[in-house]
Amino acid sequence: MARPNTLFTLVAVAVFVLYLLHNPSRTSTPITAIVEPQQPEAQVQSAIHHVLTLPHHLHTYSSDDVLDLPSLPSGPHNAAFSPPTWYQELSTESIEQAIASLLAMDNPDAPSNKNNSAPIQVLPFYYRAARSPDPSAITITTLVTPSRYPVLSRLASHYNGPISVAVPFQSPLSLPSLHEFYTSNPAIVEHVDIHLILNSPPRAFNTWRNVARAFARTDTILMLDVDFYPCTPFAQRIQGSQIALNLLENNAMLVLPAFEYASIDAGKYTSLFPVAKRDLLPLLENGEIGQFHGAWRPGHAATNYSRFANATSGEIYKVKDYHPSYEPYVIFQRENAPWCDERFIGYGANKAACLFEMYISGRSFYVLADDFMIHQSHQYLESTRKAERQLNKKLYPSFREEICLKYLKHYVESAIMGSQITHNARNECMKIAKIRKKFPMMLAGKRLQVNGMMP
Ligand SMILES: *[C@@H]1O[C@H](CO)[C@@H](O)[C@H](O)[C@H]1NC(C)=O
Ligand SMILES: *[C@@H]1O[C@H](CO)[C@@H](O)[C@H](O)[C@H]1NC(C)=O
Ligand SMILES: *[C@@H]1O[C@H](CO)[C@@H](O)[C@H](O)[C@H]1NC(C)=O
Repeated sequence: MARPNTLFTLVAVAVFVLYLLHNPSRTSTPITAIVEPQQPEAQVQSAIHHVLTLPHHLHTYSSDDVLDLPSLPSGPHNAAFSPPTWYQELSTESIEQAIASLLAMDNPDAPSNKNNSAPIQVLPFYYRAARSPDPSAITITTLVTPSRYPVLSRLASHYNGPISVAVPFQSPLSLPSLHEFYTSNPAIVEHVDIHLILNSPPRAFNTWRNVARAFARTDTILMLDVDFYPCTPFAQRIQGSQIALNLLENNAMLVLPAFEYASIDAGKYTSLFPVAKRDLLPLLENGEIGQFHGAWRPGHAATNYSRFANATSGEIYKVKDYHPSYEPYVIFQRENAPWCDERFIGYGANKAACLFEMYISGRSFYVLADDFMIHQSHQYLESTRKAERQLNKKLYPSFREEICLKYLKHYVESAIMGSQITHNARNECMKIAKIRKKFPMMLAGKRLQVNGMMP
């Protein structure tokens, strides 16, 4: 059906997104506020520009291409995602050159790459763990900046499994301390791969996540924030559970429930953390421990903590009340999973956006009811986070609309609308008023037509 209104809406969304992202005056308040002493404003601005102009998948609508909604490649759904070609892998020889040029930089605090359209440059395996991971192991993928080295060290000693870490290169001066850190703990040398991102914009968390995932050496990964302490042997339990393995094989995301102590002090002593669910439950009961970031309920509420508490041993239950702000820590098979969208910089919505796209792509959440982890308390730079959150809060609704349109279009064109894999998209995208109103045909599985211009 010809729909001038549709076109108008899309153009309006496009203009709004572009306006939001490119108009410094509109966004100047939050951007100025996220500036930290070592990051002059210009750098933060250019960082945002940088990510927006990355040449590959980081494309929002423009009014020129709005009729040409980004398509997922055709073919079986699972083949829809290609490897992250936007990262430039360097050969061993060029690594030496790259390091030499890093060390020769005039101003060690300058950003290492001024070309905003150049791809992200990564030195994969800047340090390579001594032990090759068992192919069936679960690799923890995470990101770390120097202030978090001690927590990563603790995680390496505790986890005793492969860890793939993205480290944004900050300055040549930071390399010796990275070396000192890496060699300070035999568990790090044994298990931790470090991938150095040479020209990363500051606080590009989703880019860093993607790098850690891209270079993980096992199929199954746990996407984790480094300051979480896994309390239970979740990896062994998964490897021993045919149900869990089948779920992973079928693109499930297994949620490792995240908790937090009410008292900041109690959250500092990992050696006193409960190590089994039966030790956790009394603390949950008396309120010493609760949902991670309880102040922001939608972030983890869908994990359903009371359901978790009541679950019987061996149970894995499906998340029923998905919310777009849901941002649990998940274990999944990384092959063909959508990458985390790199338009999100800084705090707020970045991980939720990543998981939203995974969910819309047909992956559902299942909670591991015998396992859990606890956040290691630390202070946040609340002013920075608040400003970034505001920026991302504006971006996120437009992003969700884009993702819905992109996937619905793909499902309709592949004539699989109505199949299991499309359920999440149908249910969730239906909640977006614009989509419900403008694209009822698409939700019903009909092809999108805009004035006959789209086949
Ligand atoms: C910046 O990078 C792009 C993409 O790699 C390249 O085409 C362009 O020539 C570069 N520009 C400069 C000034 O180096
Ligand atoms: C869990 O069990 C308690 C008591 O056994 C009950 O009061 C509560 O409603 C249960 N919660 C859920 C979510 O089933
Ligand atoms: C949690 O699970 C219980 C039992 O399945 C259900 O009754 C309740 O509605 C759920 N609550 C939330 C917030 O998901």
